[in-house]
Amino acid sequence: MDSISQNTPSNHVDTARLGDRLMGMAQIGATPNGGVNRQALSAEDAAARLKMMEWAAVYGFSVTTDEIGNLYVRRVGTDPNAAPIMTGSHLDSQPTGGKFDGAYGVVGGFEALAAIHESGIQTKRPIEVVAWTNEEGSRFQPGCAGSAIFSGKDRIEDHLDIKDWDGVTVREALKAIFATAPDMPYRAAGGTVDGYIEAHIEQGPVLEAEAKTIGVVTGIQGATRFVVEIVGEEAHAGTAPLKLRKDALKSACTIVGALEELMADPTDTVRFTVGRFDVMPGSPNTVPGRVQFTIDFRHPDMDTLKRLGTAIQPTCEANARGCHVSVTQIVDNAPVAFADSVMDIIRAESDTLSLPNRDIASGAGHDAWYMTDLCPTGMIFVPCKGGVSHNEAESATPEDLAAGIRVLANSLTLLANR
Ligand code: GLV
Ligand code: MN
Ligand code: MN
Repeated sequence: MDSISQNTPSNHVDTARLGDRLMGMAQIGATPNGGVNRQALSAEDAAARLKMMEWAAVYGFSVTTDEIGNLYVRRVGTDPNAAPIMTGSHLDSQPTGGKFDGAYGVVGGFEALAAIHESGIQTKRPIEVVAWTNEEGSRFQPGCAGSAIFSGKDRIEDHLDIKDWDGVTVREALKAIFATAPDMPYRAAGGTVDGYIEAHIEQGPVLEAEAKTIGVVTGIQGATRFVVEIVGEEAHAGTAPLKLRKDALKSACTIVGALEELMADPTDTVRFTVGRFDVMPGSPNTVPGRVQFTIDFRHPDMDTLKRLGTAIQPTCEANARGCHVSVTQIVDNAPVAFADSVMDIIRAESDTLSLPNRDIASGAGHDAWYMTDLCPTGMIFVPCKGGVSHNEAESATPEDLAAGIRVLANSLTLLANR
């Protein structure tokens, strides 16, 4: 505690350096509209990892990877037997994603590590910054693959044969990404971890509206995802009478309408999204024979999540209009609460730095969800402009971004000296 008050790591967090590194990272996969498209295990993802390696080399931090491609940057501790404290997030993005979702937690985690290093403090425990593989789940479903495998909730075997929308498997994409850094030392996913804090932009409007710089995240709402497949019958658009058709798209539209009614919520707490819709064969003059769409359904309350979640399949079947419907659930994450011990540290460090803060629940999903199985876990949110995220316009101020990392650096140091 003494060494922390004398040479506080937060004093070494460099706002300009953090901003430069975030903007440098955002150039990898930059889109014409100012956003980022850096799909999991893509060439852009590989380039982002190489950038992390370059930065780590400057400080003498070691870099390793595991069987699912999680990337770990480690600063050693003084006790060789002590379990690490971890921080991090993800470098993959949505197809039309922003500069900060995920990248902030990785690049900011790295800035925290650099600041701790420059403060001269030797922590008892090692501190690791991790870039988790495929958090978004936009290329390979489901997401949070890296943290799910690290936590032991998923097995690597269950992910390797998952295909992206072009038929490329995780196995093939991993092989390609490993080939870009063939000398990177390997470590197995998993192991004992003593604490985890993830920094992230809020992705919602609350902090900005209330002029709070730091969100002390209390937990993550429950999240589920389903894939619905509707099989009808292809037919000639000019000849097949409407009455005889089994039009998979019309069935899908009716189903989505019925689901919309099922999910109607006057309190506006339910989050229900159909974000991907594939129509096959996708020809203007063939009656669609097959449709696949995704359902992302979230709620903070477990009972509601269960009640509405179990009504999805019967609702789909009841509105199939003569087509065959199958519903497969691919994500089933209960609401999770973060550790009081970690929240207390984040709150106290924010107060010490005179940063306005408030407790806040996360509507978005994060790798931290999986870490709660392993160790005391928490998250730090900073405001983002208008609450906009999963959008190329995502934006946050350099000052707020740096403030979050100052809290992170001090909190990690405290945890790593316990
Ligand atoms: C990740 O961004 C999620 O909440 O789905
Ligand atoms: Mn994210
Ligand atoms: Mn995201």
